[in-house]
Amino acid sequence: MSTPNQAQQDIGTLLVQVTQTTADVIVLIIQILYAFILSIGRLAIRKQPRSVRGDIVLVTGAGHGIGKELALLYASEGATVVIWDINEKNGSQTVKEIAQLGYPKAHFFVCDVSSRDDVLRVAEEVRHKVGDVTILINNAGIMPTHPFLEHTTDEIQRIMNINVMAHFWTLEAFLPAMKRHNYGHIVSLSSTAGLFGIPNLVPYCCSKYAVRGLMEALYQECRTDKKNYIKFTSIYPYMVDTGLCKKPKIRFENLMPLVKPKEAALEIMNAQRTETNEVTIPRYLFGAHNLCRMLPLKAQLYIMDFIGVGLESDLI
Ligand SMILES: NC(=O)c1ccc[n+]([C@@H]2O[C@H](COP(=O)([O-])OP(=O)(O)OC[C@H]3O[C@@H](n4cnc5c(N)ncnc54)[C@H](O)[C@@H]3O)[C@@H](O)[C@H]2O)c1
Repeated sequence: MSTPNQAQQDIGTLLVQVTQTTADVIVLIIQILYAFILSIGRLAIRKQPRSVRGDIVLVTGAGHGIGKELALLYASEGATVVIWDINEKNGSQTVKEIAQLGYPKAHFFVCDVSSRDDVLRVAEEVRHKVGDVTILINNAGIMPTHPFLEHTTDEIQRIMNINVMAHFWTLEAFLPAMKRHNYGHIVSLSSTAGLFGIPNLVPYCCSKYAVRGLMEALYQECRTDKKNYIKFTSIYPYMVDTGLCKKPKIRFENLMPLVKPKEAALEIMNAQRTETNEVTIPRYLFGAHNLCRMLPLKAQLYIMDFIGVGLESDLI
């Protein structure tokens, strides 16, 4: 049995805990309201994009498609651009086109991002020849499209190596210097296939969900370090007209046309320059996705069937 003194102490401790928790709850409510006001304000007043002049921007898979457009855009904004691609001809062509536009600060390196050895070796070369990368855009990706059981083991491995493991290797190569300088930005290409499961894309969806998880967890980890100034942006594009989606099927083509690669690149650069944490392309898909997820599963499936967006097998 506790003595009257002990009982008094226990009540005192309890009171302190209740007061502390009540104060924390009040602070939390104020913080939530502040976050709401801030995000409503952001809808009304778009954040000014910050300059990338002086930045060294590395884009993986910049020999073609979205990556190529990104390289051209960043060069036109005065950044030094480092192009990585496994395809030598296409990578050199991107540098050539950037030079023809009158921007001399573009460099191409052949790199297979799925190979850790290659990434670490070429990253060292970049550091010597160009300098420390300040904006890393993990863009390279592949998208074999067919029913799950028709994917070969090699293919599944390749999807995971290029679409997911490459992010680990480039982060290993470039994040330490960003942390040392307390300056940097990581941008990663996920996909709307990282928000919804899509038939014929099981390994691809898995890889894009993985990118989303990697980015979210890394952001949360760095956020707890109060001295961290490294930014993170995850991108979830709908189908983009680069040829990667070989057989798209869209019921309402006028309402949901394929996104132009230039348009996608502009959205990505804007998201990075305004330090936005996550964007879908087009932007409204994020809200639509969140709303859809609140509905019962059957209702979600009815909506998906009604919209009728997907991909046919590329084996047919
Ligand atoms: N196109 C779309 O509809 C779409 C939609 C959502 C997300 N995405 C994502 O956007 C990114 C870019 O897609 P895209 O449509 O521009 O593709 P793309 O095929 O046009 O270009 C991809 C580039 O990556 C390069 N690449 C492939 N494997 C590589 C490797 N191992 N090492 C280095 N480079 C490699 C290719 O040579 C190519 O130049 C991908 O991650 C893709 O998953 C695309």
